[in-house]
Amino acid sequence: MNAANPEPHQGFLCALDDVPDGGALEIPADRAGAPGVVILRRGDDAWAYRNVCPHFSIPLNYEPNTFWAYDAELLMCAHHSAMFRFEDGVCVDGPCEGASLTPVEIRIEQRQIFNNDWRRQL
Ligand code: FES
Repeated sequence: MNAANPEPHQGFLCALDDVPDGGALEIPADRAGAPGVVILRRGDDAWAYRNVCPHFSIPLNYEPNTFWAYDAELLMCAHHSAMFRFEDGVCVDGPCEGASLTPVEIRIEQRQIFNNDWRRQL
């Protein structure tokens, strides 16, 4: 590795506009067995979490890149309908109320979303 030949993605996850406004986008795991990431978006804001529901430690979605979001405020787990706030990943209704999704630190630069600590977190 050298400065003239940077690693391929340097934490790049996706373009902000790849994420449906008021919805979610799945970033599949790079490594076998590692959880993916779900990115939530409201306008120019975005939040990222490991795609693992704290209820049963399984992905929040049932089918690839298919998520249920409500009013650009809440993400619903496809399995038992736990509802998570976009902003902090806290479950506000459902079987794991009070539990939280695990945040993944991101930054947005020129409408591109990067993982701040991609070597450790993904
Ligand atoms: S696995 Fe998500 S609510 Fe049960």
